[in-house]
Amino acid sequence: MKIQIITLFPEMFEGVLGNSMLWKASDRGIAEYSFINLRDFGLGPRKQVDDTPYGGGDGMLLKPEPLVAAIELAKQNDPTARVYLPTPRGKMYQQSDAKEIAADGNGIIVICPRYEGYDERVAKWVDEQFCIGNYVLTGGELPAMILIDSVVRLLPGVLGGESSTEIESFQEDDQNIEFPQYTRPEEFHGMKVPEVLLSGHHAEIEKWRNINSKKAN
Ligand code: ADE
Repeated sequence: MKIQIITLFPEMFEGVLGNSMLWKASDRGIAEYSFINLRDFGLGPRKQVDDTPYGGGDGMLLKPEPLVAAIELAKQNDPTARVYLPTPRGKMYQQSDAKEIAADGNGIIVICPRYEGYDERVAKWVDEQFCIGNYVLTGGELPAMILIDSVVRLLPGVLGGESSTEIESFQEDDQNIEFPQYTRPEEFHGMKVPEVLLSGHHAEIEKWRNINSKKAN
């Protein structure tokens, strides 16, 4: 899967895409990450990408021309890719979205807004506006990483045990549950691993896990 990221801060992604499973996915040729630096499309000698909002207000907005030029280059690289834009005003991103994107097989283009937002007219070039939670971040890089992480781990061949993505929590959007798990030692600071998990009795273990599958809060 081709994953193109439009950002002013590509170096923010190095740690996340360069380690563990996301790195493995690219090393195995399952995911291919590339960056388009929005600054390259900035206007004038100062490569301007932002401007003040009409109607007044604090902060700066991303201008539409550089953003749309960057999206058009990304689409030229991968014409069937879908374009994702993180915004607190978007639809709440859920596991079912990650599954759909992973199953779709087409590439994705993720835009990372900065400053106080972007000129609304770029929405015409965007397929999905998504929100990752009810809080406001300083930019779209973290939401972009979250989308990429949640999709790439679902691509066939990325995770070792194929079944782990199937059994795990967040299987369904509003059934985001996981049972508690334990590993060695059997006793830690006086706390023992539940007896049933040591029993080898699969039906009983399954029952215990179902009963104990709850959200932490
Ligand atoms: N940009 C800033 N905050 C955001 C959020 N919670 N979700 C998506 N994009 C954002």
